[in-house]
Amino acid sequence: MRIDPVRTTGDHRSTAHLSVMVAEVIDFLRVTPGGRWVDCTLGAGGHAAAILDASGPGAHLLGLDADPTALEVAQSTLAPYGEAALLIQTNFSHLEIACKTHKYLPVDGILFDLGMSSLQLEAGRGFSFQEDAPLDMRYDPSQEHTAADIVNYYPEAELARILYKYGEERHARRITRLILENRPLSTSRELAQVVGIALGGGRSRLHPATRTFLALRLVVNQELENLASALGQALNLLRPGGRLVMLSYHSLEDRVVKDFIRRESRRCLCPSRTPVCLCSHIPTLLPVSRKVFTPTPQEIRNNPRSRSAKLRVAERL
Ligand SMILES: C[S@@+](CC[C@H](N)C(=O)[O-])C[C@H]1O[C@@H](n2cnc3c(N)ncnc32)[C@H](O)[C@@H]1O
Repeated sequence: MRIDPVRTTGDHRSTAHLSVMVAEVIDFLRVTPGGRWVDCTLGAGGHAAAILDASGPGAHLLGLDADPTALEVAQSTLAPYGEAALLIQTNFSHLEIACKTHKYLPVDGILFDLGMSSLQLEAGRGFSFQEDAPLDMRYDPSQEHTAADIVNYYPEAELARILYKYGEERHARRITRLILENRPLSTSRELAQVVGIALGGGRSRLHPATRTFLALRLVVNQELENLASALGQALNLLRPGGRLVMLSYHSLEDRVVKDFIRRESRRCLCPSRTPVCLCSHIPTLLPVSRKVFTPTPQEIRNNPRSRSAKLRVAERL
């Protein structure tokens, strides 16, 4: 079935990004006066400003973001802090080299507030199925491949695999078939429309295109792979007692974080039937709580986009 594109004006509401669980982040980072902090996902700079406010004079913060537009916003948010904030456009998969180059080590705390910000969602870069924008989805525009490349050029089996694996989309094959029949798709609206028709009008609370858009964003930006790499590097940067605070917004991200903490806090990584430990693994992290922390009902009322947030904390041994 071929689908004719429908063009609507879309829904453009607030473009402000409200930082999530700020009080909890400050508390769990144990922000004290002075100190050296790294914010791996600056976004609009809200968490970074809160960290610098709480740590007062003498503190230093290194902020990273892959998106040059986010960096510009953060630069203006953090201008009042002068040289206390050093901001760099880079992927956090280069965390260790960024800290070493700028002599930010050892550090007292590292924050990851994963995914995209409201600014990106509403910036006409194809992240949202609610607007009509080119299918791009790159955080870093100098990166080669866009979501349109995946949607329009990947073989059917590979596209279906991506939607199934990264979107946990049960109807990946059905969606992929309709995408192929409608290629080329160039805008987020066209893709959302094709997915909506492939899935029909279900009764789910989720928009039918939610999982497809998530899968494409994760693959375009290699988010899970970069996260796993950056978490490993964070271990080499934290001082003993330093804290790692991670905010994730969907189950695949949270699984990477949870598995990382579990692995790094274990004494032995040998398969369960090995009679004697052969790995000599040395634990490097102490989970601050087994519990996952979530926003209060009041925060969710004030900022509905915070509703899926999960916060985990671990301390460097
Ligand atoms: C949820 S926002 C952060 C919001 C921020 N904490 C605040 O308070 O304004 C996530 C940011 O991380 C950036 N980002 C995502 N993945 C990244 C990566 N691998 N490397 C660097 N930045 C990344 C995105 O560009 C986005 O600006």
